[in-house]
Amino acid sequence: MMSEKLKKAREFEAAQMKQILPEEYPAFHLTGGVGWINDPNGFSVYKGEYHLFHQYHPYSNEWGPMHWGHVKSSDLLSWERLPIAMAPDTDYDGAGCFSGSALELADGRQLLMYTGVQETEKEDGSTEVRQTQCMAVGDGVSYEKYEANPVIQSASLPQGGRPSDFRDPKIWQDEDGTFYSIMISMREDGNGQAVLYRSENGFDWSFCGILDESCGKLGTMWECPDFFALDGKQVMLLSPMAMQPEEGKYHVGHGTVALVGSYDKNAFKFTREADQPIDWGIDFYAPQTTLTPDGRRVMIAWMQAWPNSKFVPDGVKYFGQLTLPRELSVRDNKLFQNPVRELLSHRGEEICYENMELSGEKTLEGIEGRTLDMTVTLHNAEELQSFSVKFACGGDFFSAVSYNGKKGVLCLDRNHSGYNYDIVHSREFGVEPKNGELKLRFILDRFSAEVFVNDGEKAATMTIYTPQEADGIRFEAEGTARFSVQKYNLIF
Ligand code: FRU
Repeated sequence: MMSEKLKKAREFEAAQMKQILPEEYPAFHLTGGVGWINDPNGFSVYKGEYHLFHQYHPYSNEWGPMHWGHVKSSDLLSWERLPIAMAPDTDYDGAGCFSGSALELADGRQLLMYTGVQETEKEDGSTEVRQTQCMAVGDGVSYEKYEANPVIQSASLPQGGRPSDFRDPKIWQDEDGTFYSIMISMREDGNGQAVLYRSENGFDWSFCGILDESCGKLGTMWECPDFFALDGKQVMLLSPMAMQPEEGKYHVGHGTVALVGSYDKNAFKFTREADQPIDWGIDFYAPQTTLTPDGRRVMIAWMQAWPNSKFVPDGVKYFGQLTLPRELSVRDNKLFQNPVRELLSHRGEEICYENMELSGEKTLEGIEGRTLDMTVTLHNAEELQSFSVKFACGGDFFSAVSYNGKKGVLCLDRNHSGYNYDIVHSREFGVEPKNGELKLRFILDRFSAEVFVNDGEKAATMTIYTPQEADGIRFEAEGTARFSVQKYNLIF
């Protein structure tokens, strides 16, 4: 039986979506139908299609009691919106159905695992928060919460784990059929730990061990873990809070981290060998992955992070986007990411300029637009003072990706994008030319820019809410730049 809360949310969403025109949404990035979204949830394959859920508050552009929005796709780029999957409608999740994951059971049902949040008023007027792990099962459209929820309670926490911060289960099934789930628990001392549970049937869970912990390094509390084997290594993705800055690597505050290492799955022992930010830009948090039927590990993230999320740009009718799905690989203990190859079939006519020389400023005929796939290769990066690609230009508006040859850094800058709040609008990170060249692939989609450096060695993301008429692209160089441009409009 559908609860009143879920029914109301579904009806509200359907009615409100009628007020938003298709061109007010991104062309191929996911948003909520209306209202607010944050983390991607339940990214998985079910009955041969990709299913994706997301943290959802349809009623306003602000975070509120979390529902699970739901979409599906056959190509990871064109998504069909399905009715809202879950609402916070029970005693154990009435304050929110927080982040989680999904998989297909052998009997054909779809299994969701999520964090139920319960808030209880205490006699002294304070509120007690309890987070537990819960299950729901469904057929790809309708879900029923499991009658024996919650399936992992505070009593199963490792010693010192706080009942108020225990969340974000990511479930998978091993080759031998055993279910595993990694999630985060905050200890009394404020540090985060990634904890592992196992189950024979997907419903009855027992504690295995602690896979890693922040220990005052790499932030304090962690959120949204993912854990998978890739290219002979084991990768753990985390979204830590309160990171401390590390020159050329981490910035202060919320961040994302990939730990690359090895895993002894019989001893539940993960050994870190390297760590790095997952995305080096401004708007990226809470990534989650799935394995595609052809064996690719694909990641999608919330294209936003908490500190900036309170500042909703003027005039938007919904708030929050997810990134482009990205294919991951590991080389030399480094995580690489590139746009999913499905994007190639959306490329329109190619416009190419080879070996251009530039000192000063230049526009190129046919190189413009806000929904495009463009690769700019700077051939003499090592000799150059500076080189900028400015996009979403028009009137006083522009955003830029600039290379400073002296410092060896790339800077993302949206100070002039029309986003009029005093929040983070630029970010710098180190880049290394390869054989003297720097290759920048830009994916623009109406309200965002994602930049992939040197074939996916680094990715950097930012949202831009500049009016769509500002669609110019300019190149600028100090010194003489030699560069090539290859550009395709993306057609959807
Ligand atoms: C991460 C997060 C998760 C939580 C969810 C709540 O962005 O804080 O830890 O489950 O968002 O919406």
